[in-house]
Amino acid sequence: MNRRTIGFVGTGRIARALVSGLSQDPDNDISGYDKLPGAAEALAEEFGITVRRSTRELAENARIVILAVKPYQMEEVLGEVRGRLDPDHLLISVAAGVTTGFIRSHTREEMRIVRAMPNTPAFVGEGMTALCAGERATAADVALAETIFSSIGGVAVLDESLMDAATAVSGSGPAYMFRIVASIAEGGVQCGLGSAEAVRLAARTMLGAAKMVLESKKSPEELVREVTTPGGTTEAGLQQMEQHDIRRALIETVRAAARRSGELKQ
Ligand SMILES: NC(=O)c1ccc[n+]([C@@H]2O[C@H](COP(=O)([O-])OP(=O)(O)OC[C@H]3O[C@@H](n4cnc5c(N)ncnc54)[C@H](OP(=O)(O)O)[C@@H]3O)[C@@H](O)[C@H]2O)c1
Repeated sequence: MNRRTIGFVGTGRIARALVSGLSQDPDNDISGYDKLPGAAEALAEEFGITVRRSTRELAENARIVILAVKPYQMEEVLGEVRGRLDPDHLLISVAAGVTTGFIRSHTREEMRIVRAMPNTPAFVGEGMTALCAGERATAADVALAETIFSSIGGVAVLDESLMDAATAVSGSGPAYMFRIVASIAEGGVQCGLGSAEAVRLAARTMLGAAKMVLESKKSPEELVREVTTPGGTTEAGLQQMEQHDIRRALIETVRAAARRSGELKQ
């Protein structure tokens, strides 16, 4: 197999997560450029990537260019890279809310672009990335992006019109899960558990429940039914969830995040 030359513009937190996954495959030839002195060098020390001194040097040596800077820095970065890109480059952006149309209009009309929305569990190799193809990206480009992001967890390929929804579910989702773990643990503390113990019990339970959803081929509601004995403890707990309309609250949580994602793009 040909070596994949992958260059990161911006070697911060999300780039680090990706490099940690990608560097395990010897076919990946990874390099990085960061304007923050020492940032790319730190990744070089930890994972053996090559440090580039400029976007020009990076683009000359990588066929896949991953833009991993903050959304507000994208316009500046695109201004820097546009003259360095040719039709052979695949451009992948992880900047939240920055559309492929925006990237194309700030680079070249014929640019092949894939947009990705990873989430923070990527830092522990359990991320969930939503991917969408820009107008000129080919099926092979999307497949390549899928391979890249599968090094940090699961991947879903979506239409770009669904990226706000994906941002609301998996992008912002970890915060909702943390809040749920904290609340369940607080319940445990009120029933007598120690705080650290309660958090561990709740978090391991979330991890196991998530694995069951992914691996059992049963719907989440089927799994609820399976664990609920009439008149038992789970049913007593679930009745409280119904009474406080947790379901509605969580649905509205996601809808509000998706609306906000749409507004931020404007
Ligand atoms: N972290 C997450 O959980 C997460 C999840 C999903 C998506 N994302 C997306 O990933 C992107 C990166 O996030 P992050 O948390 O990894 O950011 P980060 O840690 O701040 O890393 C970005 C790095 O890029 C550098 N940089 C800025 N402008 C540059 C330029 N013109 N040339 C080269 N390097 C430049 C920054 O330097 P300075 O610090 O000097 O500016 C910084 O070191 C964001 O767009 C975000 O929306 C992040």
